[in-house]
Amino acid sequence: MNRIITIEEEVPNVHKMVIDAPDVAKKCKPGHFAIVIPDEQSERIPLSIADWDEDAGTVTIYFLEVGVSTMKLARKVAGDEIDMMAPLGRESEIDNYGTVVVCGGCYGVGAIYPIVKALKEAGNTVVTIIEARAKYLLYNEEVLARDSDEIYTATSDGSHGTKGKAQTVMKDLVDGGRHFDRAYIMGCTFMMMRNARMAKELGIPSKVYLNPLMVDATGMCGVCRCDVGGETKFACVDGPEFDGADVDWEQLFKRSAQYVPHQTLAYQHKKCDIDHCGGV
Ligand code: FES
Repeated sequence: MNRIITIEEEVPNVHKMVIDAPDVAKKCKPGHFAIVIPDEQSERIPLSIADWDEDAGTVTIYFLEVGVSTMKLARKVAGDEIDMMAPLGRESEIDNYGTVVVCGGCYGVGAIYPIVKALKEAGNTVVTIIEARAKYLLYNEEVLARDSDEIYTATSDGSHGTKGKAQTVMKDLVDGGRHFDRAYIMGCTFMMMRNARMAKELGIPSKVYLNPLMVDATGMCGVCRCDVGGETKFACVDGPEFDGADVDWEQLFKRSAQYVPHQTLAYQHKKCDIDHCGGV
C-alpha cells in the first residue's frame, strides 16, 4: 500500500495526487504509467506517471473523476493509502530529433511533463502546446514553460491563447514556416486522435500515449488490445507509446465505449450514495 502525501483539485475535475512510493520513484522513466486501486472493490485504473522525485521518494499522477473508482480516488485525503503497481509500460522513445512539438490536453497537460523535460534534456528545441475548453481549465503552464523553448495555449472559447485546439496552433505554426521533426501528444483519446491526424496531414511523425481499459496490465488479459499499423498490440506491455498515424482510432473508441452506459449508471448511483447517504 502507498500513502497519499497530497491530493488537490488542480482545476475543476482534474486532480493531482502525490504518492509516497520510493521504490517506484527510483525506476520511473518518461512514458511509464501506474495502475492505481483506490480500495479492494475498485477497478484497476491506468494513469500516466506525471512526475517523480527520487530524493523525496514520491510519484505524481493526474486523473479525472469519470466513474466510481476515480470518484473514490478523488475523495481520498492526505494520509490515506491506495494500492499502486508501477512503473509499467515501455519507456518513451526520446532522442535529439531537432525541433519537436508537444501537445497536452485534459490530464495530459499535467502528465506530458516528463516527456517535455526529457526531450529538452536530449537537446531538442521544445515547442509545447496545451489546450482546454476555457482558461479556467488550463493548468501547469508555468511548470511546462520552464522546460519548453516556447509554450502556446489554445482554448475552445478563446479565453486564453489561440481560439481552437492544440492542432490549430500546430497548423498555424507550420503555415507560418515552422518545421517540426516530431510530435508528442498526450490527452484523452479524442484529443490524441485530432492532433495525430493533424500531425499526419502536416507530415510530422507523431507519438501518442494510448489509455484503453486495462485489467492486469501485464499482457495477460487482452483487455487493452488495440490495432496499430494493422497489428494487434497490447497497450500495457507494447505501449502506451505508439505512432499516432498508425493507430486504428475507430476501433479504440468502439472498445472504450463498451462499458460507458454501465459506468454512467454506476457512477450516478454511487455518487448519490456517497454524497447524500454517507456510503462508500
Ligand atoms: Fe491485460 Fe493489457 S491490460 S493485456
